[in-house]
Amino acid sequence: MEKLPTQHDPRVLVGFNTADDAGVIKLNDEIALVQTVDIFTPIVDDPYMYGQISAANSLSDVYAMGGKPLSALNIVGFPRDIFPMEILGEILRGGQDKALEAGVAVIGGHTISDDELKYGMAVTGIVNPHSILTNSHAKAGDLLYLTKPIGTGTITTCLKAGKGSADMETYVSEIMSVLNRRASEVAIAVEANACTDITGFGLLGHAMEMAKGSKVSLEIEYNRVPILDYAMETTAKKFIPGGTKANRLYTEPSVSYASHLNEDQKFILNDPQTSGGLLISVPPERQNDIKAALQTARVPAILIGSVQPLKDKFLYIV
Ligand code: CO
Ligand code: CO
Ligand code: CO
Repeated sequence: MEKLPTQHDPRVLVGFNTADDAGVIKLNDEIALVQTVDIFTPIVDDPYMYGQISAANSLSDVYAMGGKPLSALNIVGFPRDIFPMEILGEILRGGQDKALEAGVAVIGGHTISDDELKYGMAVTGIVNPHSILTNSHAKAGDLLYLTKPIGTGTITTCLKAGKGSADMETYVSEIMSVLNRRASEVAIAVEANACTDITGFGLLGHAMEMAKGSKVSLEIEYNRVPILDYAMETTAKKFIPGGTKANRLYTEPSVSYASHLNEDQKFILNDPQTSGGLLISVPPERQNDIKAALQTARVPAILIGSVQPLKDKFLYIV
């Protein structure tokens, strides 16, 4: 989309030029629409769980903007000659149950026949134009919180290869299906300067977009970054998703890695996430507020680093 001409519509509050999570268009002084769409191929075997995870992932971009999702449309690519229709029914039931949990009405959708199964949602939400959370207003001095551990890419790659365990699948599925709603409410309550969700570009890819958009550098302490159980084992066994390698190339020019970091550690930082957590940039004077709010909301977020004035690189992994 970088190659498309820039639009100059004053109603567009967030467009695609800042690589943000969702588009925002103003309706009036109090209300703006937040719109996003996401779709992906199955990452777990259980169709009901796949539906839940995909819905949580699609809703996440609205939460990352500080919005409240209202409605969703299902989007499905379905190979009728490979799977029975009951499978589609289970996927949609999973999506609908997750939407219900989020207070979102599923009001329609569209299915095309496809060689490969795909499911996702187009989600519409609302946000107050004055309290939009973008990825481009992080400020030097801010503290960075990450609300979910990383490593879903390597674990699901291991599962897809048939080398995982049932426990591994249950564990990673449950984390991926958690909504970012409460994390978003915390970010709004503490007046975060910036926020984004960690998805396909991995922790470093999304952190880099935040740094670029905000014209700052981010310092991330590797030892603080929460990593899913199993993820370092599956990485060591070389279950590295194709996306990880692409992400490493994409972030490489913008990252300074401390010399003590090994290849597996660099891989995990670039591991593509499905339905990952929020990266929240909070003014330092709100540190006690965010700690209290996270605890009340039972969001297991971790302080992973801080925002610095812009230096040579956008990201410093120390
Ligand atoms: Co996003
Ligand atoms: Co997205
Ligand atoms: Co139609």
